[in-house]
Amino acid sequence: MANYVDEIKKRRTFAIISHPDAGKTTLTEKFLLYGGAINLAGSVKGKATARHAVSDWMEIEKERGISVTSSVLQFNYDGYCINILDTPGHQDFSEDTYRTLMAADSAVMVIDGSKGVEAQTRKLFKVCAMRHIPIFTFINKMDREAMDIFELLDDIENELGIATCPVNWPIGSGKAFKGVYDRNTEKVLLFSDTEKGTKEGEELDLSINDPQIDSILDPGQKEKLMDDIELLDGASAEFDQELVSQGKLSPVFFGSALTNFGVETFLKHFLQMTTSPLPRKADVGLIDPMEEEFSAFVFKIQANMNKAHRDRIAFIRICSGKFTAGMEVYHVQGGRKQRLSQPQQIMAQDRKIVDEAYAGDIIGVFDPGIFSIGDTLCMPGRQIKYEGIPTFAPEHFARVRQIDTMKRKQFVKGIEQIAQEGAIQIFQEFNTGMEEIIVGVVGVLQFDVLKYRLENEYNVDIRLEPLPYEHIRWIENEDIDMSKLVGTSDMKKIKDLKGRPLLIWANAWSVGMTLDRNPGLILSEFGR
Ligand code: G4P
Repeated sequence: MANYVDEIKKRRTFAIISHPDAGKTTLTEKFLLYGGAINLAGSVKGKATARHAVSDWMEIEKERGISVTSSVLQFNYDGYCINILDTPGHQDFSEDTYRTLMAADSAVMVIDGSKGVEAQTRKLFKVCAMRHIPIFTFINKMDREAMDIFELLDDIENELGIATCPVNWPIGSGKAFKGVYDRNTEKVLLFSDTEKGTKEGEELDLSINDPQIDSILDPGQKEKLMDDIELLDGASAEFDQELVSQGKLSPVFFGSALTNFGVETFLKHFLQMTTSPLPRKADVGLIDPMEEEFSAFVFKIQANMNKAHRDRIAFIRICSGKFTAGMEVYHVQGGRKQRLSQPQQIMAQDRKIVDEAYAGDIIGVFDPGIFSIGDTLCMPGRQIKYEGIPTFAPEHFARVRQIDTMKRKQFVKGIEQIAQEGAIQIFQEFNTGMEEIIVGVVGVLQFDVLKYRLENEYNVDIRLEPLPYEHIRWIENEDIDMSKLVGTSDMKKIKDLKGRPLLIWANAWSVGMTLDRNPGLILSEFGR
């Protein structure tokens, strides 16, 4: 068999989704540690620095004037080649965070055991669920007091609408946290909090019937565990790989990323249960990743913050075959052949030029301004178009006022270009012309980015007036008469650059009210 097939089979490409502070960075670091991709020394004590060095690129990259926020961390572990897609969170949460999920084949959802499902997790989950990709749950921070575990699982099922199947089960939490019980092997993996942050943290593996267990567990803990397991065996969904693959059932694991407990067992199970690169939908049908011919799509475009360089980097997800540096590809939307220059990959701390890459991999290529998000690249002589990337619902809106109205041309050019890169979305009132521009963003930082870039790259000053809207829906009905639509007092009718009609509201409940008042109206949270 050709060697490229083996390369593709061992690839696992996934994103880690979580609410800020649940432990995504810590868990990512521990994964890298197992893969030997980062050096342990230095990442234990100087955690803040180490964190920056590994996942939080944005600030550093900005200081250096390079704008490549990390896209992917690649490393090898246990015969697998792992691509972890970084989903920017915190202040730099943006539409790119959602787009990155379009390049993943599965997702790891990290939940803080004391908090349950939080707002950002819910948003990211929705995007994964839309694609029906497998989702694995890691309940973190078990070394802290956690919520009742059954309640936590109910929370996941009710809030997210996905069934759960605990693969292991925690024994106590906080100070009383003793380890996890593996439901399949009926063994207990015991936790010792002695070597914080090291790879070798002691993990003792004992059968539940081993007499030693009684002296290790607190009085009553074993009984509680057995009761829990009995209850669980009766109540929870059974493990079913097929349902996991369809994203209908999430295997659940418990642990503590900080103290490195339960991380390796999670990683091992996860790598086995998750999928190698998945076939992707194109206009000609599904494209098999094992096809020899290279194909890929653009999922993110990164503009250069350094104004001396107007160039951009396009991040592409390889969907089939093998990529070789210098190869000529066909850019379907541009209708021309193209040599992809400076293909690069981010390996832990470094960016490096890649010679070859395979289906499942993500690479960044130099973009002289020709690519758009969602574009397809394939071998010359072929014509396929991968399914486009949807537009995601912005949650913050502002009216843009141009301070010097003489610079109308630059203003329109700048704002349209920035919108085309996908950093912001622009809208107009449904009935007026271009004079009134409304900007929508997924993360508020994008407002600053817009203002900064218009000033620095286009020499245009703007004022942003925040608007109270937070909810937006695309209207799916083809033949809608906007003048007949009955809305709520907090609703506004707008259109996007393509003239598609949308509605925005200040209050969440108004969305449902509008639906009630307009039978037959079809609204969507994603623009296609
Ligand atoms: P994020 O990327 O999801 O935002 O979370 P991150 O890993 O940065 O973790 C957020 C905080 O939670 C960090 O503490 C981290 O040390 C802590 N943490 C992560 N996993 C665990 C865990 O399993 N148990 C406990 N007890 N804490 C955990 P911090 O104080 O914000 O940062 P630092 O001072 O430790 O660097």
